[in-house]
This record gives sequence, structure tokens and C-alpha cells, in this order.
Amino acid sequence: MKGMFPRKISVLVFLLAGLAISGCRQSMDQSKTMSPGITVSEFGVLPDGRIASLFTVQSASGMEMRVTNYGGIIVSLTAPNRDGKQEDVVLGFDSLDQYVDGSPYFGAIIGRYGNRIGKAQFSIDGESYSLAANNGENHLHGGIAGFDKVLWDATSFSEGTGHGIVFTYVSPDGEEGYPGTLSVNVTYLLTADNRVVFSYEATTDKATPVNLTQHSYFNLAGPSSDSILSQELTIPAGHFTPIDVGFIPTGKIESVEGTPFDFRTPTSIGARIDQDNEQLLNGLGYDHNFVLNDGSANLKLAARVYDPESGRIMEVTTNEPGIQFYAGNFLDGTLTGKGGHIYPYRSGFCLETQHFPDSPNKPSFPSTILMPGKLYATQTIYTFSTDAE
Ligand code: GLA
Repeated sequence: MKGMFPRKISVLVFLLAGLAISGCRQSMDQSKTMSPGITVSEFGVLPDGRIASLFTVQSASGMEMRVTNYGGIIVSLTAPNRDGKQEDVVLGFDSLDQYVDGSPYFGAIIGRYGNRIGKAQFSIDGESYSLAANNGENHLHGGIAGFDKVLWDATSFSEGTGHGIVFTYVSPDGEEGYPGTLSVNVTYLLTADNRVVFSYEATTDKATPVNLTQHSYFNLAGPSSDSILSQELTIPAGHFTPIDVGFIPTGKIESVEGTPFDFRTPTSIGARIDQDNEQLLNGLGYDHNFVLNDGSANLKLAARVYDPESGRIMEVTTNEPGIQFYAGNFLDGTLTGKGGHIYPYRSGFCLETQHFPDSPNKPSFPSTILMPGKLYATQTIYTFSTDAE
């Protein structure tokens, strides 16, 4: 796996892999400082006895990110408002048990395939593969036990002005129906200039689809907010991929011009979400992939969200060709989140950088097939600022 890191990472401390692997129940009640800017404590015990850890990463600028190696879940992430007040801007739960009992992918790493694969099947070189149909007849977010439910090995590191965690996992050949042994590294780096940098790397020994992403739900107005609808979204995409009623792309790439999907100028999420539009009806609101591909593999702006109330701004840059904008349409007030806060309808949004949904069955979409000997490497950055800057 070492060779999978093209850039220099100084790994400071090896954490907890032994505990995680052996599943022994040693007490980790005390929070320990692992390296500058990072402490670790026990988050909870999984049903099989393995211990999940909770890493707290501090930035020199005052941001704090808490992450567990269960699912690589970002449990909390603070960002300053225009007065400098740090508040949690992601949805989530207080306890490991709640994540295990049923989470709509709050904060998790998604793999092997972020988003849907139609009819839970695909073929490569004439060989067909069946996956779990865990979303109607379709496959969603890697299956029944996707990467969001893996206990990842975790290592802390520092790079430049930032501190972070490297998550590693080797997904066995055939896991969730996918071919090939897939070795995966995902790093989260919190920098002193208020960026969270996600780097995804993978290698395989057989051709297999890979589409890794991060599923944090944001509400820039902070933890007591019940709605994201007044937050203003910009997506500099001229096209999106329309979907059928099962949320599977039709295969067309359509212009956003004159539609409620035109976010090329800042528009509040709620301004058009309930319009009588076939695509909004199919998606039950916004739950669509936007086409970012400018023909290059460079990092580019994929989305920007501004909350007029707090002044917080979040920018998403990525070298992925797509971004799924999901407006929390399946949140329905039945989940009790952090601090007892109930998450109502559309109280969090996701901006999942990715290749397009159902690419393994859509030859006209950019390919998601990783070949042996090739390195899968993508990067996405969330940058936080405010309107006071
Ligand atoms: C994704 C999908 C949504 C929904 C959520 C999880 O973002 O696009 O349709 O399945 O995950 O609830």
C-alpha cells in the first residue's frame, strides 16, 4: 500500500489497528494525544466486539473535525460563522450504536460504488456480476455492507499546516458481489486555512468498478437549524444527468438552461425545489448528478454554498467529473441526531463528488472501471470561509 501515496506523508503514529483487528476489549476511555492536533478516544464497541475509535483533529485556525474509523464517518465538523463562532455544520449521531442501527450514510466514506447501479448488475468483458439490490431493484452506495460499515485501519499524519487521518481497507474479491481485491486508502486532512482535503486511492487485481465519495450532510446554519432551504447554492455546471423514477440516469446529458437545475448563479436551495418539474418529481426534490467535466482532470470548483444567516461559505473543488446534489429529501423527522436534535425534512444537504451514477451500464459516461496495475486517485476539497472575509 505504501506505493499508493505519490505525495510525501509523514506518518507519525500508528493507531489502534491491533486493537481493531484482534477485537479485544481494552479500555480506551481516556482520550490520548496521538500527535500534534490529534487526540483519540474510544467511540464505542461494535456488535462483534471490535472497538471503534474517535479521532479529534484540531486546526490551528480553530476548526475541529471528529472522525471515527467505523465507516470513516465524520461525526462532527466545526466551521466559523462571520463572527468567528465555531459551530458544528454536519449532521450525525452522538453514539456509535446509532450509526450501526441505521444511518442514512451520515458522514461516511461510500464505496465501492457511490450512488446507484441499475438493476444491481453490470458486466465487464462479457462477464456479468450481480450486486445486492438494496434500493428497490437497484444497488446503492456499495451494498448492504458497503465501506460506510467497514471498521477501517486508521493512522494519523501531518502534512504542511494540517493534520489528518489515513484510512486503509482491503476489500476482498467478491465482497458485495464486486470482482477483484480492492486496496483502498482514504485520507482526510484538516488544514490551518480551513480546508478539509479528501484523497482517495485504490488498486485492484481484477477489473472492477470504483467510485468513492464522502456522504457528509451539511447545514451551514449550525446544529440547531431545521432547514437548508434558504442556503444559496452555486453549481457551475451547464448539464446534468436526468433520472427515471428509480433514480437511475436515463443516459441523457441535458442542459440546465431554463430548468430548476440551473445553479450557475447563486440560488437558494428552496427557491424552485417544489416546482412541478418531471425531474424534481422523479428525484423527490434535488437528488441529481451534475456534469462538471471540463475535459481536464484538474481540480475545479464543483459547488459553493452560502448561508446568509451565519455568513458561512463552503466551496467544493474536485477532479471528479460529477457531483450529486442531494437535498435531504429522505430525512423525515424520525432520526434523533446529536444533542437530541431531530432532523426534519430537508435539514441537510449532500454534495457528493463522483463519477456519474450507473456508469458501469452507461458506455457513454466516463468509465469507472479500474484496471489492474492502474492507480485510482481522486481528490475533493471542502473550503470554509465567511462573508466577513
Ligand atoms: C444518496 C442518494 C439519495 C439517498 C441518500 C441516502 O445521496 O442520492 O437518493 O439514497 O444517498 O439516503
